[in-house]
Amino acid sequence: MAFIVAIDGPAGTGKGTITKLLAKEMGLVNIDTGATYRCVALYMLQNAIALQEKNKIIDSLANIHIDMKNEEGEQTIFLNGKNVTNEIRSKEVTKIVSQVSSIKEVRFAMVEVQRNLAKGKDVIMEGRDITTYVFPHADVKIYLDADEKERAKRRYKEMQEKGIEMSYEEVLKNIQIRDKNDKEKEIGALKIAEDATYVDTTFLTIQEVKEKVKQIIEEKRGK
Ligand code: DC
Repeated sequence: MAFIVAIDGPAGTGKGTITKLLAKEMGLVNIDTGATYRCVALYMLQNAIALQEKNKIIDSLANIHIDMKNEEGEQTIFLNGKNVTNEIRSKEVTKIVSQVSSIKEVRFAMVEVQRNLAKGKDVIMEGRDITTYVFPHADVKIYLDADEKERAKRRYKEMQEKGIEMSYEEVLKNIQIRDKNDKEKEIGALKIAEDATYVDTTFLTIQEVKEKVKQIIEEKRGK
């Protein structure tokens, strides 16, 4: 039986970083579900499809093929055979991705992609609706949270390190908009699953969060 670790939470809680580190340390396959929505957003930008053109977006889903390769915890994302690992993190994609992910048909299609990518593997997956919708029967469910200003600070630092030009205020605004969008989605809204372990990361370092999450997984998995 495949073992499933599901992690949800808002942007900037360290989900991505922790999932990557633990995948490597614990021999789990890391499936970045946000990346699937980012691929749809990138496809729209590449094909000049606007957010208002809902029918075009829905039609284009049939032309979007997403694949992920994992090597020692490092993940490479392919959109229609092309490596888009870095491109999907661009400012332009980030700006529209939450709205793209709110479209019901996009969610249905991407959840299918995510479940297929996980099939038969021991996985660690992070996102917004993994514990509640994608894998409601996951073996381990964790909800990571943090104060919004702290999350904006973390994201701002990450952007700077990647050389992406954005002010702290802009990052904070982005986070607030995304939080609102993520929590108010018709389907797959971000919420805390009843049986998830809640971890507040505001005053914890990445290392501390990682150890805490690792312990929770080990308890369930048996070392
Ligand atoms: O985690 P991320 O920033 O790469 O996610 C990109 C967007 O996709 C974000 O706005 C939330 C959305 N998302 C989602 O709706 N469901 C998921 N399982 C993962 C991400």
